[in-house]
Amino acid sequence: MRWSATPYRAKERANISCFIFIMFFAVFGFIILTELLPSKDPVTSNNSRSRSDHLQGWDSRSNAGGEESESPPPALIPLDAVWQPVGGTRFRFYVYSAYVERRTVAAVRIIAATKTRGADSVMCRLWLVNNRTLTLKAKVKAIRENWNLKFSATYVLCLLADSGVKPHETVGASVAVLATDKLNSLPTNLLIVQDTEPKPGIEENLHICVKPFHFSFNRFDWLVEWFEMNRLLGASHFYMYNQSLSSSVECLLEDYRKKGLITLLSWQLPILSKVEIRTEGQFAAFNDCLYRSMSRTGWLLVIDVDEVVFPRRERTLPALLTSLRASYQPRSKAPSAFLFRNAFFYLLWEDDSEVNSPLLMFRKTRRWSTPHSLKNRSKYALRPRDAVELGNHFVWELAPGASSIGVNTDRALLHHYRMNCEFGGVVCIQVPSTIDRTAHRWKDELLDRVTTQRKKLEAAGCVQKVVGQ
Ligand SMILES: *[C@@H]1O[C@H](CO)[C@@H](O)[C@H](O)[C@H]1NC(C)=O
Ligand SMILES: *[C@@H]1O[C@H](CO)[C@@H](O)[C@H](O)[C@H]1NC(C)=O
Ligand SMILES: *[C@@H]1O[C@H](CO)[C@@H](O)[C@H](O)[C@H]1NC(C)=O
Ligand SMILES: *[C@@H]1O[C@H](CO)[C@@H](O)[C@H](O)[C@H]1NC(C)=O
Repeated sequence: MRWSATPYRAKERANISCFIFIMFFAVFGFIILTELLPSKDPVTSNNSRSRSDHLQGWDSRSNAGGEESESPPPALIPLDAVWQPVGGTRFRFYVYSAYVERRTVAAVRIIAATKTRGADSVMCRLWLVNNRTLTLKAKVKAIRENWNLKFSATYVLCLLADSGVKPHETVGASVAVLATDKLNSLPTNLLIVQDTEPKPGIEENLHICVKPFHFSFNRFDWLVEWFEMNRLLGASHFYMYNQSLSSSVECLLEDYRKKGLITLLSWQLPILSKVEIRTEGQFAAFNDCLYRSMSRTGWLLVIDVDEVVFPRRERTLPALLTSLRASYQPRSKAPSAFLFRNAFFYLLWEDDSEVNSPLLMFRKTRRWSTPHSLKNRSKYALRPRDAVELGNHFVWELAPGASSIGVNTDRALLHHYRMNCEFGGVVCIQVPSTIDRTAHRWKDELLDRVTTQRKKLEAAGCVQKVVGQ
């Protein structure tokens, strides 16, 4: 009987609901009107108008110094790895690169950056290599790790469903992202669609992704050591993003690039780092790196230039990773991502008294006794073909069926050679610590390689002949 009500009360309720309904629309409509129409009330007018003028002026500001006015010029040739604007959007919207997506949805996946919430609605125009032109619906999806800032690394998925076009047919096509209400204007961006299908013979390759270099990154000697150590550990290629570099580091990278060891990509994203978007839009870089490397490597390691993952038993990381996967039966149950726990080796700690070496990795042997727990500053290696979305310390989304797991510290540890305490000051060095000489297993080999490489770089005029820090 609880549910029954007299007809009279039911009618009264219906009237009240109706009233609330009408009031809701009245209030809602009023809000919309005051937002849309320039109000005559000077105070309101100042507030709402000046805010939107400010946003428009700022949001449509173009890449090149902000002197041009409204719309960016039309894009003429397809580009890769250049931040290009999407014209006519309310909020700044940039696109960087485009890849074939076959796994989660049939699509062209575009690496972008725009407003975290309430991004403009966009569509894609695709020019296939057979000259067919398609207009596709697009899904805009903020990449999860955005620290709630106003702007975020973002995926634009140009959906191929109902187009009759298969993902692989988009390889080599050109694609443009257009604001949905500006579909008839000329595109202001044009990207080349790149393949992601793994090539044969890449299973044991290990490539490394590094977040964008900034503040004129200049740790020359350390960088030589870091590169050569990672090469000894089996890394054969590095993806790096250049926002700014010192001239000596630029020279060093150029040398490695000529040897085919580095893909160095430009990174001029016109969104203010740390204020509007998380650290240089690094999540756009990590995820660009994921898709860029997918066809070329069996393993991808995402680390920073002050970090090295040392295996405890094997001499190389591919050997470690292959061995970790081999312990799973059947093979299809093997994890696709392996997380390494972080241990700080503060450079503020004293040098190892038993070691006399110019190399930092051999002198700095003191580390936290207890490494951080998983996902707390951990870094990871993974099979790129099995990953959809990367974060800084773990993988946010794997392909259907794939899994990720932590690696025991008796198999490998992430050595984090930090210059400063995490929270400033110097108290961090009071943490319980221990001596760890794992790096010494590569001592002679590394010294040889660094010495040879440094001589080459000196000869190339990259740096003066002084033994560094
Ligand atoms: C109008 O907006 C400007 C900029 O936000 C502000 O400095 C000024 O005080 C405002 N004037 C009034 C009357 O609110
Ligand atoms: C596509 O168009 C270009 C330029 O108009 C032409 O040269 C080319 O032959 C066309 N390709 C095909 C497959 O029709
Ligand atoms: C790195 O980026 C800066 C700023 O755009 C540019 O001036 C410099 O030439 C770039 N260096 C390399 C090696 O690409
Ligand atoms: C990460 O580890 C540090 C050091 O052990 C600890 O102080 C901090 O609370 C941890 N953070 C999280 C989010 O667990």
